[in-house]
Amino acid sequence: MKAIVYYKYGSPDVLKLEEVDMPTPADNELLIKVHAVSINRSDWEGLTGKPLYARIGGLFKPGYKILGSDIAGTVEAVGKDVQQFKPGDEVFGLILNYGGGFAEYARTSERALALKPAGMTFEQAAAIPQAAFIALQGIREKGQVQPGQKVLINGAGGGTGTFAIQLAKLAGAEVTGVDNREKLDLIKSLGADHVIDYTKEDFTKNGQHYDLILDVIAHRSVFAYQRALAPNGTYFLAGGSVATMFQILLLGPWIRKTTGKKIRVLAVQTDSKDLVYITELIESGKVKLFIDKRYSLSEAAEALRYLGEGHAKGKVVITVEQNNET
Ligand SMILES: NC(=O)c1ccc[n+]([C@@H]2O[C@H](COP(=O)([O-])OP(=O)(O)OC[C@H]3O[C@@H](n4cnc5c(N)ncnc54)[C@H](OP(=O)(O)O)[C@@H]3O)[C@@H](O)[C@H]2O)c1
Repeated sequence: MKAIVYYKYGSPDVLKLEEVDMPTPADNELLIKVHAVSINRSDWEGLTGKPLYARIGGLFKPGYKILGSDIAGTVEAVGKDVQQFKPGDEVFGLILNYGGGFAEYARTSERALALKPAGMTFEQAAAIPQAAFIALQGIREKGQVQPGQKVLINGAGGGTGTFAIQLAKLAGAEVTGVDNREKLDLIKSLGADHVIDYTKEDFTKNGQHYDLILDVIAHRSVFAYQRALAPNGTYFLAGGSVATMFQILLLGPWIRKTTGKKIRVLAVQTDSKDLVYITELIESGKVKLFIDKRYSLSEAAEALRYLGEGHAKGKVVITVEQNNET
């Protein structure tokens, strides 16, 4: 099968389109013919090997040779222990623990997979999983946002952020979205009450206090986040620098004890129920899916460069051409 592979960390130039062996699913896994795969910052991090946690599969060279964790496609084959899906089902989901989405076929378990709604295209479905999981847990399940609360989303114009703004508005919060100037109109159009251009203003220094901060791109000191929180407020780091993450793990419990403010790393759990929940919101028009650009598999390097260089608004999706003779 065709796949986009890489053998060393680096820029999109290290990506190559190659013929590789098809993945072989184990008894509890499915083989999926990939129709579309969306790009996440985690792909960019996996490509460049930065931050350091992106090297979890291999310190000096990538452990997984194929990136891509948000897929939508058709079930081609199932292992004998697979219960919920059968060949021919149209599915979508997160395969973060496997990788391998930038390819004609991928294998995964049932856990973070759901049936694709008939009214949704493969591209739309592929744009959902990882970003929606993080946003749902940050805002709803762990964030438990209540009406009238002040919520700030740092990195609001990207994949997670565009879902998070809308979920926080649905929960009745007053929402502030932080991102670069190019993305502020999109953030407002999704319902944010206030926007901040991170190149001009530091939200931790403007005297405002938030009940919940969801940060997809954390790089400040833990004390800056403490300053920006309201009494009893919660800060979640979803992604960002390893230094900030360590500070939070070390000092978060002490800050909570001394101030009541909760500063934590968000460890996202994946459950297909969340995929069903978010697709219902999308199908009912309560949440909008924002796909900025579409690319073909052979253009994967360009697609990653577009996200990595800071242009992507919402989601970027790769459509995988189907070779039906395989
Ligand atoms: N916690 C977990 O369990 C878990 C699970 C999966 C993934 N993750 C992580 O969660 C993160 C998800 O990110 P995503 O896919 O939503 O990223 P994304 O789509 O790239 O969005 C990030 C946004 O932040 C903006 N940004 C960059 N620098 C900023 C700054 N200094 N201040 C404010 N905004 C800034 C980016 O804009 P520019 O265009 O200016 O760069 C972009 O619009 C990734 O780091 C991923 O590894 C966490």
